[in-house]
Amino acid sequence: MKNISVLVTGGAGFIGANLVRMLLKLDYKVTVFDNFSTGRYAYLEGLPVDIVEGDVLDRDLLVEVIRSHQSIIHLAAQTGVPGSLIDPYQDCEANVVGTLNVLEACRAAKDSSDTKMSQKIIFASSNAPLGRQIPPASEDKAPLPVSPYGASKLAAEAYCLAYYGSWGLNTIVLRFGNVYGPFSEHKGSVVAEFFKAICNNNVITMHGDGEQTRDFVYVADLCRSVLLALDCDEVGEVYQIATGIETSINRLVEMVQDVSGSDTSIYKAPTRHGDVRKNYSMIVKARDMLGWDPEVNLDLGLRKTYEWFVNYT
Ligand SMILES: NC(=O)c1ccc[n+]([C@@H]2O[C@H](COP(=O)([O-])OP(=O)(O)OC[C@H]3O[C@@H](n4cnc5c(N)ncnc54)[C@H](O)[C@@H]3O)[C@@H](O)[C@H]2O)c1
Repeated sequence: MKNISVLVTGGAGFIGANLVRMLLKLDYKVTVFDNFSTGRYAYLEGLPVDIVEGDVLDRDLLVEVIRSHQSIIHLAAQTGVPGSLIDPYQDCEANVVGTLNVLEACRAAKDSSDTKMSQKIIFASSNAPLGRQIPPASEDKAPLPVSPYGASKLAAEAYCLAYYGSWGLNTIVLRFGNVYGPFSEHKGSVVAEFFKAICNNNVITMHGDGEQTRDFVYVADLCRSVLLALDCDEVGEVYQIATGIETSINRLVEMVQDVSGSDTSIYKAPTRHGDVRKNYSMIVKARDMLGWDPEVNLDLGLRKTYEWFVNYT
């Protein structure tokens, strides 16, 4: 019986909806903090969670809510490169100032006498901070972001590490690969877009020549890494969370067509600014320090995801 209170910012989103279910199975007491800008109430329907509708830019509310929780999983963010190109200020506010607000509220909770904050602060980062580094992405490479999103995630990572260094907050940064799985109907990520196109009998839109590569990690595997991080004593650290396997978008199209039995046609759109050409990660550190390994291969993960899309749409 865990009986530990965990606050999940962004818990109504894609990763949040999956993670909250896994936390509940392990008997964590879960509160979701979300402004529902992209997340959905429907994803949390019927779950025994407390929901606080709020924005990570609301400092007072964060201080009030965080003080009654032992661990924080900070997922809330402006979550992609395209949004950051459209409005870099909004991206910076949500991702940098929002994270700083979470950390400050955790510091206040740690300092106050009625605090329960003693456990972990897990920050959801990405490979975007590494940017134009030659793959594989790894924790020891110098970040060279190519998008405002990469810059804002990098700044937020830096604050997490600084709050460990300056005030001993138990922060852990997890850099997620390309996550896919159930509860992603609202997402513009490549797997979600392909399955939505197939379910709606639309053409699949592919950006660039399709030879760009990504490291696709199934959401349940990814959430297991977060659960392990909650129990990990190696804090003030950055971990790459992916599979170590590089898959081209052309190969992904073949796989989603095979999984869905569809021969939907492909529309090739121009390459998007800020997208990196090749991307996959080394996951040795997560294996060694978190004891984490991905278990669901891409074929199985795509089948589970397609099944969810068919039932949801
Ligand atoms: N999905 C991926 O492939 C991926 C890859 C790398 C990193 N990440 C990171 O993981 C986290 C979760 O991503 P996701 O894919 O679940 O995205 P998502 O958009 O589904 O979830 C984000 C959630 O945060 C909420 N939110 C956004 N801004 C907020 C704010 N200012 N205050 C309060 N709530 C706010 C949204 O309503 C949503 O519920 C993000 O930090 C994202 O950058 C995701």
